[in-house]
Amino acid sequence: MLPNVLQRNDSTDHVPVLAEEVRELLAIEPGHTVVDATFGAGGHASILAADLKGEGRFIAIDRDPTVRPYFEGFRRHAGVQSRFLRGEASVVLDQLAENGVRADAILLDLGVSSMQIDRPERGFSYAVDAPLDMRMDPTAALSAADLVNDSPERELTTIFRQYGEERYAKQIARAIGRRRKKEPIERTGELVEIIRAAIPAPARFGEGHPAKRVFQALRIAVNDELGELEEALPAAFEMLRPGGRVAVIAFHSLEDRIVKRFFQKLERGCVCPPDFPICVCGREPELRRLNRRAIRPSPHELTHNPRASSARLRAVQKA
Ligand SMILES: C[S@@+](CC[C@H](N)C(=O)[O-])C[C@H]1O[C@@H](n2cnc3c(N)ncnc32)[C@H](O)[C@@H]1O
Repeated sequence: MLPNVLQRNDSTDHVPVLAEEVRELLAIEPGHTVVDATFGAGGHASILAADLKGEGRFIAIDRDPTVRPYFEGFRRHAGVQSRFLRGEASVVLDQLAENGVRADAILLDLGVSSMQIDRPERGFSYAVDAPLDMRMDPTAALSAADLVNDSPERELTTIFRQYGEERYAKQIARAIGRRRKKEPIERTGELVEIIRAAIPAPARFGEGHPAKRVFQALRIAVNDELGELEEALPAAFEMLRPGGRVAVIAFHSLEDRIVKRFFQKLERGCVCPPDFPICVCGREPELRRLNRRAIRPSPHELTHNPRASSARLRAVQKA
């Protein structure tokens, strides 16, 4: 049985993914400085803070201001000095590093939270009709409706293809182009209907909901999720103390590829051409990978939390 602070906050429906695995890999000890750069409902944060055993400090970051009440709840139980910094992980981590703050453990649990998906007004879900929004930070300039109504068809095709691996990207972008000439597309329900009508009938069945891939693609584009990750990883690494650890949970192959390549590059050390008889670059490995292959949720975890199905966890230790 987990102690109180380790248990999930029942007022939320976000179940932390791969929580025990993250905890083991980050190996937090009393006195450590821990950063959760994607705080969400604070599920992982509660589990990690418990390992501080009342000594150390906890920094929570999220670009979504609506997580603040979850942070206040976390702070009441965490038993350590904790602060919430609202903003993009890439920017906040960079600022902390520049100000000389050093961390022993950093977690990035990427993507959206269950609270974001399940609140219809956020517009992330294809399952309910709502404003076409999808911004993790509701004050950000660009919403999904802006992207859908203002981007050239060619750009929409690229977004659907690259971020959603949508086979009918071009047909869907064309259908959007036709519809928006008549009236702007403002709601998720309208977009779902356009997608349904644009793809061939047999493709509407199987492979999940027909709008799933386009919604994923739009969400990634609206929140610049891949660009953010490219910048957040070096900022997190910079902020780590020697011997410190960072763990990243990715939810699709595009993210996981960025994480894997970043870690591989820093692990390699020497960058001399393979035909050089001796190393002349003098570069040393900057990290040690704590797991060779990405860790996936167990069947047991998936029975309790099917949303974890695409999660992949990688962790490293700074040299
Ligand atoms: C998957 S949820 C995290 C859930 C959390 N680990 C928990 O157990 O409750 C991702 C959270 O990170 C935030 N987020 C995603 N990308 C971010 C970024 N680049 N910068 C800051 N926050 C981000 C989202 O707003 C969301 O609240």
